[in-house]
Amino acid sequence: MNLLGARPRAGLPALIRDYEPTDEPSWLRCRVLGFLATNYYDDVWQEKRRTDLELVALDGGEVVGLLDVSVPGPDATVDNVVVHPDHRGRGIATALLEEALRRLERARVQTLDAWTREDRPALAWYARHGFAEAERYLHVYASADEVGTVVTARHGLRPARAFLHARIEREAEMRQRFERVHVCRRLVRPVTR
Ligand SMILES: CC(C)(COP(=O)(O)OP(=O)(O)OC[C@H]1O[C@@H](n2cnc3c(N)ncnc32)[C@H](O)[C@@H]1OP(=O)(O)O)[C@@H](O)C(=O)NCCC(=O)NCCS
Repeated sequence: MNLLGARPRAGLPALIRDYEPTDEPSWLRCRVLGFLATNYYDDVWQEKRRTDLELVALDGGEVVGLLDVSVPGPDATVDNVVVHPDHRGRGIATALLEEALRRLERARVQTLDAWTREDRPALAWYARHGFAEAERYLHVYASADEVGTVVTARHGLRPARAFLHARIEREAEMRQRFERVHVCRRLVRPVTR
């Protein structure tokens, strides 16, 4: 077992363990259903993207919660934290985070950050677990009607829509020009408190 290796825990509402490739269909269903009512509703994956630390919560053989963390060095990043809508409020995300923090601490990782939009349950959950906002910027989606005002056609291509980043100082202007604008926040906490 390496420093980020498996260590199943007893007494949780769901079994927490490392992701296994056979979890993939159930993992993908959990993720897409978990994001359905959030501002990430169209961030759909059809294949799991592998990362350094991958935990799942299982109930009845199904993935009901997932947490992915990339660990490039002393500063780690949450790539995904999602709990199936039918299993919220059972402490599953908290149990996943606690297990990840134990492993990150053993691996001497110093900070954990996450990027998220304005979904209240997610922001409240991060705040409860000691994450504080460090920076923010804008995610702008330009629709078919809007994209012509910002993207110039070249090489015989006609832009149909676009996903753009903008500085937070331009929020009022972006909201005036585009219907779908999100504030993306970087939240960060020390691994050991
Ligand atoms: C954010 C999210 C991951 C939290 O998952 P969760 O498993 O419901 O979170 P927890 O259960 O650990 O904590 C949430 C609530 O349950 C409560 N709780 C914790 N343990 C509990 C238990 N054993 N029994 C009942 N409630 C419990 C917490 O106090 C908290 O209560 P509150 O929100 O009413 O104040 C989940 O809402 C989610 O998947 N959201 C959509 C995806 C998303 O936005 N992800 C983050 C952005 S990338």
